Amino acid sequence: MPEYLPTAPYRGTRDFLPPEMSVRTQVFGHLYDVLERYGYQRYDGPVLESAEIYERKSGQEIADQQLYTLTDRGGRRLALRPEMTPSVARMIAGNAGSLQFPVRWYSHPNCHRYERPQRGRVREHWQINADIFGSDSANCEIEIFELVHDLMRGVGATDDMFVVRANDRNLLSSALTDLVGVTAEQLPQVFGLVDRWEKYDRETLATQAEEIGLPDKQFEKLGDVLGAGTALLDELPEQVKETSNLVKVLANEAAGLVRFDPMIVRGLAYYTSTVFEVFDTSPENNRALFGGGRYSDLAGMFTSQQIPGIGFGMGDVTLMDFLGTHGLTPQPRSEVDVVVIPVAEELAGAARQVATELRGAGMRTSTPLELRKLGKELGRADKAGAKVVVIVGQEDWAAGNVTVRSLATREQRVVALTEAAAAVAELLA
Ligand code: HAM
Repeated sequence: MPEYLPTAPYRGTRDFLPPEMSVRTQVFGHLYDVLERYGYQRYDGPVLESAEIYERKSGQEIADQQLYTLTDRGGRRLALRPEMTPSVARMIAGNAGSLQFPVRWYSHPNCHRYERPQRGRVREHWQINADIFGSDSANCEIEIFELVHDLMRGVGATDDMFVVRANDRNLLSSALTDLVGVTAEQLPQVFGLVDRWEKYDRETLATQAEEIGLPDKQFEKLGDVLGAGTALLDELPEQVKETSNLVKVLANEAAGLVRFDPMIVRGLAYYTSTVFEVFDTSPENNRALFGGGRYSDLAGMFTSQQIPGIGFGMGDVTLMDFLGTHGLTPQPRSEVDVVVIPVAEELAGAARQVATELRGAGMRTSTPLELRKLGKELGRADKAGAKVVVIVGQEDWAAGNVTVRSLATREQRVVALTEAAAAVAELLA
């Protein structure tokens, strides 16, 4: 017995068979449309990058635990991209001389992370990235939040189905330092703790806090700060708030787009001020749907020029969970609109001729590759999702006619070949 290899894909990765691919294409097609309407231009890049670009800036979780690394035959250390932001920062830095800043770019890469597969988490996901480069203005934050809302509406969501929770790492640092008494050295670890706040129970968090050097009293205070919501802003110094784009957003008519939440910090290390995450309001999906933020010096890995960026990454897995929960998943598209069936093999050429005409009129049309009896072919056409069949019979064809039949109503009529496209279009409408 030969030893067969598994047909299942590698753990945590997915095959997309045509029905799933159809759903994915439709959903992401809506997102591309929204992005293009905002003037975002699509780019792409390689799956393989130098491992160092993630090790330097993405933070420990990605660099130490999730990176797929390899050494090529020339001894270079590479990684499968776990995210797109370091790659796009590299492209922006490398082409800064010829770009007219600010630029708005988007992409749809597959990203690889070695994570434990679970609801909302896989090892290869597809992620829409939208970023603005070259502007410090709070208008960027406003546009990004508006874009987030329009993307969600683009896939059929209404505003009550999701919430955008935003914070500013500078505001959080100030609160942690001034109100909780966290030291500068403790800050990165406390950020990590805040990022885990909603994922662990209180006791585990308290133990972790103690390990960082925050005893009970400080841990209590930390809880108060994180749970304070907008009221926290009243306790923060004016000079910190004055420099915050998020505070400007909250004072603007765009304030309704986001909710200030001190608990949002995000896992990636490179964010420098605004951070946000989008959550499903349904408790079924408690993980963030997607998120992003502002990073002022990621391009600084590649160039001395300061090029600030702000944007987000929206993954397909969490988005599909969201759509499923809210009954918004589109139906897979049918294979074809029309099947042209010859009644005998010698009419195959005639059927192809009719099909060519229908395709020319924009209809998705196929002809049988291996002809079966008419009854069987009608069944197969129905299963393929066709709404109409065109039957090419001997006598009809000799007289310059074909039979056009609706699969739903079984209504059929003989029409001249020259009128076939119009007759089919009528039945499809
Ligand atoms: P992130 O939060 O690491 O941010 O990932 C963004 C989104 O990608 C997540 O919210 C989730 O939808 C999806 N995602 C991430 N990891 C996985 C996984 N293992 N399985 C399934 N989905 C996943 C970033 O990647 C930033 N680079 C986003 C960004 C762009 N920030 C600024 N610009």
